[in-house]
Amino acid sequence: MQTVGSYDCWDTPNVPYYEQLTAAVEAVRSRWSCRPKAAIVLGTGLGSLAEEIEVDATVRYEDVPYLPVSTAVSHKGQFVCGTLAGVPVATMQGRMHGYEGYPLWQTTLAVRVMRALGAETLILSSAVGGLNPQYANGDLMLVDDHINLMGDNPLIGVNDERLGPRFPDMCDAYDRTLARQAQEVALSEQIVLHRGVLAALRGPNLETRGEYRFLRGIGADVVGMSMPPETIVARHCGLKVMGFAVVTNVCLADRLAPVGIEDIVDTASLAEPQLRRLLTRLLADWAADSSETEQNADLASVSSTFRQPFTS
Ligand code: HPA
Repeated sequence: MQTVGSYDCWDTPNVPYYEQLTAAVEAVRSRWSCRPKAAIVLGTGLGSLAEEIEVDATVRYEDVPYLPVSTAVSHKGQFVCGTLAGVPVATMQGRMHGYEGYPLWQTTLAVRVMRALGAETLILSSAVGGLNPQYANGDLMLVDDHINLMGDNPLIGVNDERLGPRFPDMCDAYDRTLARQAQEVALSEQIVLHRGVLAALRGPNLETRGEYRFLRGIGADVVGMSMPPETIVARHCGLKVMGFAVVTNVCLADRLAPVGIEDIVDTASLAEPQLRRLLTRLLADWAADSSETEQNADLASVSSTFRQPFTS
């Protein structure tokens, strides 16, 4: 990779980013040779959704070169690869966050790995604080859009055209067709699914009253510490994105009560069965819809996004 000035922030010493990615992909592929249709990221308190997967392989992040390990509470730190409701999936049981001290290009390496394995859709989930006064603890929200207030971006650095374009468009960051499908499933399953805007800050502290007031004022319905970096990288490499936020703490500035990580994990775990039901139904519908022709078209689109060495 070229360098700008004397420092290329996409490289760790002596190992260009693309080579890091190649090595990470090979490490997962050597343990699981299938092609996932969907990539899934399970956030705080939501990891047990992986119990639904018919597991072919689990790959711990520490066994994948260049992947940061997940240090966050309740984040197991492994890929769970297999079949969920008839759909081949690569699932991250736990993610990496900026607040753990990793640069965002590194926290999102796993998204590129799943894309290179062949995934075409990325399903994100995250625990969030609820800013919209209509939301209650345990509610689910489909992410319609995001506001990235992390003060950082995973694409900063020299752009590698093999991975995606310099200026990816974010007009439909969260796929509208997938969103409509999710809403239809929620309706038929009688699951309350709000649709709104997620603002993300870097954390790790929860926000002040003033910050919650500000975030609501600029149009956010929920606030979290993840998702935009993964969405940005996903759009950069051509993945469609669907995001689910689980409201773990209502954050109304004038009625704010202290909240701890245990409360957040507990509330997310209570809401997880709803998300599990929603996702399994959605994926079962995809499995029923997918045809041989569609699969071949998908393979072609992956090949054109990631050229060598991922096309073999
Ligand atoms: N703020 C930011 N991130 C969060 C919150 C919050 O209130 N709750 C869960 N994740």
